[in-house]
Amino acid sequence: MRAGYASRTAEQNALFRTLEFARPASQRVCDDPLARRFLAWPFRLVMGIAAIPGGATFARWYIDRRWPGVRTSVVARTRLIDDLITAALEKGIKQLVILGAGFDSRAYRMPRVAAIDTFEVDHPDTQGAKRRILSSLLSPLPERVRFVAVDFKRDTLAAAMSAAGYRESARTFILWEGVTNYLTEAAVDTTLRWCSRASPGSRLLFTYVHRDILTRPSAFVGTKNLFASLEKAGERFTFGIEPSRLPTFLAARGLSLENDLGAAAYRERYFGDRARRMRGHEFYRVALARVVYRPASIRAPTWCSTRRET
Ligand SMILES: C[S@@+](CC[C@H](N)C(=O)[O-])C[C@H]1O[C@@H](n2cnc3c(N)ncnc32)[C@H](O)[C@@H]1O
Repeated sequence: MRAGYASRTAEQNALFRTLEFARPASQRVCDDPLARRFLAWPFRLVMGIAAIPGGATFARWYIDRRWPGVRTSVVARTRLIDDLITAALEKGIKQLVILGAGFDSRAYRMPRVAAIDTFEVDHPDTQGAKRRILSSLLSPLPERVRFVAVDFKRDTLAAAMSAAGYRESARTFILWEGVTNYLTEAAVDTTLRWCSRASPGSRLLFTYVHRDILTRPSAFVGTKNLFASLEKAGERFTFGIEPSRLPTFLAARGLSLENDLGAAAYRERYFGDRARRMRGHEFYRVALARVVYRPASIRAPTWCSTRRET
């Protein structure tokens, strides 16, 4: 990330959700009426174009041509995660933790989320920008949302979360969307170990990229333009996992893999037949894991004890 600035990729995701919201309600894959409020220059310009008749269609077409698969992958995963959070709420989760929240608006647009404790955790630069925008939109801010400013590469998540009132004993849904690929292996490891301390039966939903995108980028459609934009934003991909190793990788950290879907699969789930024409971003994956019970005595507490799995 560029020091002192909100994450550009977080804003870009808000742009994709905004362009989806510009469709008629019956055609939308995801529904995020707040996303547009988080856009700054130059994304606001895109929204100016989208306001002209035919402009939103043109903007979506242009983005898909230049960065194939990114927009459709973000839109479909937003819906997938909304559905999974709704299902978790029905099962009675008591807390939602959003790690690397960016401009995620679930705490403000999903009424049932507003009824439980939500912790928005993010880098101070992105969170500062979000809080400034939110305070001009919602007054007062919802009481049950707590903001936790943390740099996963530097700060101790455990201390920051307990200071914010997070309860390890409460059944929790932890969401870590669009973040692991920007971190170091050590930061991913430490954060996963923190997640595994949640009450048994809690769920962690996180996204990751296939390790091959780091080692063989040319094997994937559209990587050249994608990597050039990420470089410009100061948000290069630095971490990935080989999907076949994911169950072992998680088990070593007290988590049991329940589901692992690639972008082609979750796009097909929500875009239906239209997904057949979508190319790019197939390396992006959404994984759902369950926290398993481990007696405190066998919990591996430090980064030093982990194996290099990626
Ligand atoms: C691609 S955005 C994802 C935002 C949101 N979860 C979404 O899916 O739209 C990446 C997020 O990771 C956060 N992030 C990146 N590096 C971080 C770090 N070292 N510590 C804390 N947050 C970080 C950024 O601030 C940003 O909010």
